[in-house]
Amino acid sequence: MLKYTLKLGVGIGLWISVWSCGKEEQKKKIVEQDDISKLAALPLEAPVPADNPLTKEKIALGKLLFFDPILSGNKDIACATCHHPEFGFAESLEISIGTNAHGMGSNRAFNMPNDIPFVKRNSQTILNAAFNGVTLTTNANPTQAPMFWDLRVRSLEKQSLEPIKALEEMRGRRYSAEAALDSVVNRLRKNPTYASLFRTAFPNDPTVTVDHLAQAIASYERTLIGGNSRFDQYLRGDRNALSINEIEGMQAFLKSGCAKCHHGPMLSDFQLHALGAPDNEKLPESDKGVDNQYKFRTPSLRNLRYTAPYMHSGKLKTLEQVLEFYEDLAGDKIRNSQVKPSQIDPIVEALKVDFKDISLIVEFLNTLNDEQFDRSIPEKVPSGLAVGGNLR
Ligand code: HEC
Ligand code: HEC
Repeated sequence: MLKYTLKLGVGIGLWISVWSCGKEEQKKKIVEQDDISKLAALPLEAPVPADNPLTKEKIALGKLLFFDPILSGNKDIACATCHHPEFGFAESLEISIGTNAHGMGSNRAFNMPNDIPFVKRNSQTILNAAFNGVTLTTNANPTQAPMFWDLRVRSLEKQSLEPIKALEEMRGRRYSAEAALDSVVNRLRKNPTYASLFRTAFPNDPTVTVDHLAQAIASYERTLIGGNSRFDQYLRGDRNALSINEIEGMQAFLKSGCAKCHHGPMLSDFQLHALGAPDNEKLPESDKGVDNQYKFRTPSLRNLRYTAPYMHSGKLKTLEQVLEFYEDLAGDKIRNSQVKPSQIDPIVEALKVDFKDISLIVEFLNTLNDEQFDRSIPEKVPSGLAVGGNLR
């Protein structure tokens, strides 16, 4: 009997210490300082799903579709309108302007009269989106690759159909969301050039279908890679690729706690965090993010040169402004008055942003730009419409 109680006591004691140790461990992990092992160069090739192998025919077809306004209800906007090579496959607007508009970059504006709302969020870049979900610890699974600021869709294939169905992006009011994909497929079938290009790209099932449309666009997107930044060169072994200041900037980035969320080859954990970034006043209501908890996905920090303005709302114009935002956050100052202190991500406890480190960190972030991506634009698209949409 005595033996039994003893055993039980030891058991409970052990259990309690394991439990408290787990909590302590977790806390330690949050405040522990990171080192360079949290960072990695980009793999040379993007992961490709088994049922959509890359072929040059699919890539060429996907590229035409990406630049062709035939995918939009009013034939006035293409994927490339908001993801233009000139803007690093992103754009320079705070939040996107979709159909019934003209111009590109900061000159883009709605036509009048207009009854189309703004797109809710800042346009992400397509460059390297094929690596979404690739971290230090997760194996690349392109069928599960997380997409959007709120992770609401998985895989480039599935993502590519969403803007076609969205009223404020490409659909407009010509047809309903339910009818959008069939309407677009019918248009493509009736176009002899597209009918023939789909036959060549999909020889085993030579028809225009929604799945083939998605597979072709995703194939083109998998070729849009910028993975030879000076940061990558440094991590692949060229110790002269970064200046002394930039290396100090990298250390300041790690010391400040940035790599708690921005780590791995994409400088993103692809998880959701609430930081209380400011709302965009052009929207009728506050964008509450996932589960109304103001959670948004950690964005990649690659090619930030092209992805300004920053955050889901596009409300921070420069990297200095982003760093000042983090300095406030580290000092418990929340920028968005709708967000309660209890909602802010606990990892923020690990943030320590020293004012004098800000310009060093910005220097480091600039080493993550790669200028050598494919900027080529088709001369014409099979529909005969304006390449890239109404950009003038
Ligand atoms: C009206 C502007 C607009 C058009 C047109 C548009 N997009 Fe986007 N795109 C956006 C915005 C804004 C986001 C971010 C939306 C969000 O996260 O809620 C986005 C996100 C994406 C992403 C996710 C990137 C990531 O890292 O998660 C991909 C991929 C993408 N778009 C591809 C496309 C393709 C393919 C097309 C054409 C079929 C297209 N887009 C048309 C504005 C646009
Ligand atoms: C708790 C996780 C976390 C930490 C720590 C963190 N970030 Fe972020 N970062 C995010 C999330 C989430 C966003 C998007 C927030 C939003 O849009 O509401 C973001 C956005 C950004 C952006 C904007 C990128 C774009 O394309 O819009 C930059 C730049 C950035 N962070 C740099 C940093 C730096 C530098 C540090 C360290 C001082 C840091 N982050 C610390 C999670 C984090």
